[in-house]
Amino acid sequence: MNDPFPPEDFDAWAESYDQSTLNIKGFPFTGYDQVLSKVFELANAHPGMSILDLGIGTGNLALPFAELGCEIWGTDFSAAMLAQARIKLPQAQLFHADLRASLPPELNRRFDRIISAYVFHHFELAQKIEIIQKLVREHVAPDGRLLIADIAFPNLAALEAVKHAAGDEWEDEFYWLADETLPTLAAAGLPAAFHLISSCAGIFEITLPAS
Ligand SMILES: C[S@@+](CC[C@H](N)C(=O)[O-])C[C@H]1O[C@@H](n2cnc3c(N)ncnc32)[C@H](O)[C@@H]1O
Repeated sequence: MNDPFPPEDFDAWAESYDQSTLNIKGFPFTGYDQVLSKVFELANAHPGMSILDLGIGTGNLALPFAELGCEIWGTDFSAAMLAQARIKLPQAQLFHADLRASLPPELNRRFDRIISAYVFHHFELAQKIEIIQKLVREHVAPDGRLLIADIAFPNLAALEAVKHAAGDEWEDEFYWLADETLPTLAAAGLPAAFHLISSCAGIFEITLPAS
């Protein structure tokens, strides 16, 4: 199968990734810092908690959790991204894994918080839902939280407006549309809240089934 988003693309981006998030003020990183801060706030983590960051990249999302004294676990399918994360998060347990496949056996456990940022837009909606269902079933602690931040829009009209303004910077990927996603998640037994953070980013806070 021809992978439209191969790990090699991310390997090539790893060293300059943090510069991109600093320097790109428009699409796709509008509000990047606020998105990461809001995930941290919504997670309401405490020292000692286990945190799994999916598609950890260079470690920017996980960093404040590490500084708080949480135990960090992370996955990514780019070895070069993981090498950058290792510099920022020397204590973290990092695993080379493709989110579209099963997680490595070391991650066959539950986590207090599962977080992710700017990753799920590589997957079509059905695959996003499949991954989230598995996470809820097998990996989130009963009183845990699952927060997925990503490139997302309230609806298609909002996406079209950003696409128009972005011009050549726009790239077609599987961006979330909240008005389509929320009912689909609910129908899959995964009611969620959507927090819009910027013109092109938001956070899905999945409501876990009562234990
Ligand atoms: C845009 S970066 C986001 C990195 C980090 N989460 C952040 O917020 O800065 C996307 C990351 O997801 C990883 N990624 C993309 N598709 C993946 C997949 N199928 N499985 C695992 N990691 C993936 C990339 O290697 C990259 O590190």
